[in-house]
Amino acid sequence: MVSAQEMAWERRHPCLHAFMYCGQDGRAPGYIFIIVCERSSWMTIMKSLSFDSMVRLYDETRIFDEECFESALDYMVERFPPRAFPSVFEPGIGTGRIAIPLAERGYRVTGVDISEEMLAFLKKRLISSGKSSRVFYQRGDVTRLPFPDETFDMAIATHLFYFIRDWRRAADEILRVVRKGNPIVLMHTGMGTEIPFLNDRYKELCAQYGHPMGAIGVKSTGEVVDHFEHLGYHAERISDRWKWVSNIRLDRGLDYISSRAYSFTTFAPDNIHSKVVGKLRCELGSQFGSLSATVEVPNQVYLVVILRDKV
Ligand SMILES: C[S@@+](CC[C@H](N)C(=O)[O-])C[C@H]1O[C@@H](n2cnc3c(N)ncnc32)[C@H](O)[C@@H]1O
Repeated sequence: MVSAQEMAWERRHPCLHAFMYCGQDGRAPGYIFIIVCERSSWMTIMKSLSFDSMVRLYDETRIFDEECFESALDYMVERFPPRAFPSVFEPGIGTGRIAIPLAERGYRVTGVDISEEMLAFLKKRLISSGKSSRVFYQRGDVTRLPFPDETFDMAIATHLFYFIRDWRRAADEILRVVRKGNPIVLMHTGMGTEIPFLNDRYKELCAQYGHPMGAIGVKSTGEVVDHFEHLGYHAERISDRWKWVSNIRLDRGLDYISSRAYSFTTFAPDNIHSKVVGKLRCELGSQFGSLSATVEVPNQVYLVVILRDKV
């Protein structure tokens, strides 16, 4: 977990990352270690990626097709109606992008997140929209949930397991807090403003400059689904149902990479990041002529419904 002090320290020392390790669970330290490491090695030891540094551009860059999104949520409501499944748990609730529309559909949503900044954003959003009565949240780590067994009627996790080293423990914790036999929904809302080949090239160039990217958690949702299936759960994949094509301008995609709006851009030290962005700009210029060209990105919302028994 990265704290505000750690982030401030890091801004002053862009190639180094420092974090404090205080006792077992952050409370009543007794002792404090300060660990300083190269920013790229931080990824190999960090436990989870907090989205503190990405909050400013988060919602703007995680756009989706409203109609597809609404229709996927309506599908959930039809299948798991709020009168039968009133309380929903969202691990990694973030800015409430999913929680708020679920609350509008009649669920009572409770979320946790390790990011203070994302939760602060969510708080403001709930206050300004007057929706605070049906969305509850607290700072917490999904690998160690502060809820008794079987607290919730269902859970929905969106774009989460990529950012947690001990993602199996997170999955097991989610299973623990949802009533036995009730659904856990894994949701994907698409690529937002990302352009896949730009992401790939960014990572390739970082590796060429000596900063290969690893993964913190899973590389794909398939790994999480395999885990649930291995535990005896049935996974129902609902795809190719809510599809659209996004048209993203190259300069927009590149500007967001440059502003480190996406998780994979947060690991390269500043000097490497600037070099890679500069090189990408040149390459795109010579390949496309103009950076105002648009690229078509196929997108879809898809769901995986995890259930104890096949329904
Ligand atoms: C990609 S965002 C998804 C946010 C939201 N579910 C959505 O779809 O908009 C991932 C979120 O998970 C949070 N996160 C990462 N590791 C976590 C952990 N171990 N426990 C709780 N939240 C975590 C991040 O801070 C971030 O807000």
